[in-house]
Amino acid sequence: MLIVANWKAYVEELARAKKLLAVSKRLAREDGIAIVLAPPAPLLGVLSAKNKSRVAFAAQDISATAGGALTGEATAPAYAAASASYAILGHSERRAAGDTDAVVAVKLAHALAHGLTPILCVGEAERDGEGRYLALVREEITAAVELLTPRERTRVIVAYEPLWAIGTTAEHAIDPNDLAEMVLYIRKVIAELLPGKSARRSLVLYGGSVEPDNVRGLAGASDVDGFLIGHASVDPHTFAELVKQLT
Ligand code: 13P
Repeated sequence: MLIVANWKAYVEELARAKKLLAVSKRLAREDGIAIVLAPPAPLLGVLSAKNKSRVAFAAQDISATAGGALTGEATAPAYAAASASYAILGHSERRAAGDTDAVVAVKLAHALAHGLTPILCVGEAERDGEGRYLALVREEITAAVELLTPRERTRVIVAYEPLWAIGTTAEHAIDPNDLAEMVLYIRKVIAELLPGKSARRSLVLYGGSVEPDNVRGLAGASDVDGFLIGHASVDPHTFAELVKQLT
């Protein structure tokens, strides 16, 4: 299981960040568990500097630019220099701040060009009776990989994060059977976009109110490869409880 902890802007103190890293290092020793932390950029730089553990790091976003005279931008090479190995891209909170499908596609290309594995977030704002949400998920995935070579496409991780399930509590997360269905659907979409049978190795994650109470049910009912976790990843005790449900 791949567990990606998206700290968003919840973690703002170094002491708390270090505590979360220490807990994550212990959890990452469990067989079958891989942990990726996505701290705010300055904290990522501090934590990753001396990291020799199995914990890996992700950017929460990267610049769509190629660098230069652009105050405030943090590019893929800058994250790679800080030892990030993944980049969360197309998160709904970044899309709400202006990232279009075209911008997300450019970011995926930049990430891959600099050795960062993209974690592409897709998901609908609401579910309609006619299945339009399925078309939207398909469109978001298709548009995001448009600029990539077939080989690059095989490296993309897709995280299904329906907006209606983000930031609430376990009982408002997705129904495990609905997740199973969506994971199958996403695998079908990926298979159409990737060369040969390579999509079989692609990872599909779920995010949206994953908590210690529901993570085991979601993992058990579906063929999901892991989780992208927000609020439950920023308290050391809750995060440890959650990961232990999967061991
Ligand atoms: P929550 O786990 O807080 O719902 O956030 C999910 C998310 O957006 C992870 O990227």
